[in-house]
Amino acid sequence: MPLFPSSTRDIPQVKAVPRHIAIIMDGNGRWAKHRMLPRAAGHKRGVEIVREAVKACVSRGVEYLTLFAFSSENWRRPEEEVSMLKGLFIMALEREAAKLHRNGIRLRVVGDLAPFGNKITDLVERAEQLTQANNKMTLTIAANYGGRWDLLQAMRRLVESMPEQRGTFTEEQLASCLAMAYAPEPDLFIRTGGEQRISNFLLWQLAYSEFYFTETLWPDFDSAALDRAIASYQRRERRFGRTSEQLESAGRAPPSKRELA
Ligand code: IPE
Ligand code: IPE
Ligand code: MG
Repeated sequence: MPLFPSSTRDIPQVKAVPRHIAIIMDGNGRWAKHRMLPRAAGHKRGVEIVREAVKACVSRGVEYLTLFAFSSENWRRPEEEVSMLKGLFIMALEREAAKLHRNGIRLRVVGDLAPFGNKITDLVERAEQLTQANNKMTLTIAANYGGRWDLLQAMRRLVESMPEQRGTFTEEQLASCLAMAYAPEPDLFIRTGGEQRISNFLLWQLAYSEFYFTETLWPDFDSAALDRAIASYQRRERRFGRTSEQLESAGRAPPSKRELA
């Protein structure tokens, strides 16, 4: 059984602070271009602002922060940029793992890491092992991640692990094979940089997430910008298919067993 309620099979408990925030960190290239700098400068500044986002999320009580760092489609970029991004990823893993550990943060990396090579897979394995027992917040980096890749690998694993089922598995069984089965579905999805699309991010888990799009470019997305996103989230009514009236009467009545689950 999955650890967390599914938004389509149950009604998740909604808290004022999003339990899980997932972000498409977009706009590094444009940030650099506006300053007549090479794109690499935008990516470097982007890594620095990740630190601020992590700190702010911990201090606001967010339990899971998931950051899209490199999509399965980003290999289509010029080789030079791809290799620069790989270099930055290596540097961040080398420099930040111990700091994350000191701050009680568990690091997970999701995506098909093999094409990045041994150096990255080894660093990821070490950092994940080092931080695995931490419980202040779970930081997930999605690298060479694609929502379709995730669904396919989950289905393959399911079919392999339960051949006798002949494809008759349930939503819960599928969800438990997704790369992020260890986390609840995102409450809040943020995309910086002005584009309004999912770009093959968490296709399954975004089913009932609240979406927040901002023109702010990722390198400018400071803690005040994050607070604006959280404030917007707090003004939403999460109905999960129900009517407003049902929510109002549920607010007056004691929460149902389902909501407490
Ligand atoms: C996001 O910034 C970072 C990655 C995709 C790695 P971009 O590099 O996409 O920045 P823009 O969209 O060109 O401004
Ligand atoms: C999405 O950004 C992926 C990441 C932020 C890692 P892109 O900038 O690559 O997205 P598209 O391709 O323009 O939609
Ligand atoms: Mg972009």
